[in-house]
Amino acid sequence: MAADLKPKVRALGDCHNIADFRALAKRKLPYPVFHYIDGAADDEATRERNTAAFDDVDLVPNVLVDVAEVDPSVTVLGKTTRLPLMLSPTALQRLFHWQGERAVAAAADKAGLWFGISSLASVGIAEIGANYAGPKMLQYYYHKDRGLNAALLDMARAAKFDAIALTVDTIVGGNRERCLRTGFTSPPRITLTSALSYATRPRWALDYLFRDKFSLPNLEAHVGAGSDVATSIQSYFSTMLDQTMDWAAADKLRQDWGGKFVLKGVMSVADARRAAAMGADAIMLSNHGGRQLDGARAPFDQLAEVVDAVGDKLEVILDGGVRRGTHVLKALSLGAKAVSGGRLYLYALAAAGQPGVERALGILEAEIVRGMKLMGVTRVDQLSRDNLRLR
Ligand code: FNR
Ligand code: LAC
Repeated sequence: MAADLKPKVRALGDCHNIADFRALAKRKLPYPVFHYIDGAADDEATRERNTAAFDDVDLVPNVLVDVAEVDPSVTVLGKTTRLPLMLSPTALQRLFHWQGERAVAAAADKAGLWFGISSLASVGIAEIGANYAGPKMLQYYYHKDRGLNAALLDMARAAKFDAIALTVDTIVGGNRERCLRTGFTSPPRITLTSALSYATRPRWALDYLFRDKFSLPNLEAHVGAGSDVATSIQSYFSTMLDQTMDWAAADKLRQDWGGKFVLKGVMSVADARRAAAMGADAIMLSNHGGRQLDGARAPFDQLAEVVDAVGDKLEVILDGGVRRGTHVLKALSLGAKAVSGGRLYLYALAAAGQPGVERALGILEAEIVRGMKLMGVTRVDQLSRDNLRLR
């Protein structure tokens, strides 16, 4: 953004990039909710690096190519999608906008993109399966409760989900200091200090109070009365998830599922090789948007070496930090099959529900297509490391 032209972002029509959606989301959400989305672990160094990493390489375009027709589509996990962009699974979307996952699923469907729902989704797996035809991934948290684990697989199968992604970077919860300061809970508990924030966001508060009740339908049947799964993400991670999860458990899950299987949160070359040897179809190179291990390397910084090691054996999906179409082009130039992002659509969901997500995806599509034309490529597989230089 040009420093001398500060954007005024008051309505959806004022949003011209992901940063604008973030600004609008901040105006619309009670601050504990905004900071739950926006925040990350500890000093948030990893969250910042995830995006900043893209600035350390520059694109080097070729010119005088006929780019009247460009095709940004890609085939990932056996499905052809209109863009090399996936919507990462994120929890609790009903708190961000009353339309929650329904809005995101509908927008992804229209845009022809993969979308993921979280184990902690606020809409049921069956409902998503019944209403949205596009490629769908269930993000899978591995619980101590084996009955719950089996039920999640059954629900995903019955709803004809196309893939599951086992998240492997949340063996304990990250230290989300913003949430400690704001007192964020799920569902929100209104405290003395946060009351004003809810009062100054009456639209959100009314939607929250008078539309569908917030719940976590995919866990509900298996969460005993008195459990505090719904009160804190931290306690969910520490009480319900199984810290004994290991490679054998992941492989058993892969076999029990029998369909496309993704490990989400792999970062090291050694683990990427192991994922390939196990027969995973893809890895999401990810640090959970910086929300877990602060100081962890950014996916973009780690991408080249992982692609070099396993790029011919499984699909490498870069997850995290993506805010611009050119970020997508840089990741694909290094060999990512596709990119995936959470906040890039969550800010838009919070800002304006389904129309917000549709507008954000439209802007990203325009950025990707414009970027391809300016780079002199007509298909994404023409992007290569020859197009990039390190600063
Ligand atoms: C997440 N993410 C996440 N991942 C996951 O495996 N299960 C989950 O339930 C959630 N929930 C969640 C909530 C919120 C509010 C955010 C911001 C993120 C992580 C997500 O899938 C993805 O890895 C990151 O969002 C990627 O970073 P960017 O794109 O947000 O920078
Ligand atoms: C988060 C969890 C739910 O990042 O994955 O908040």
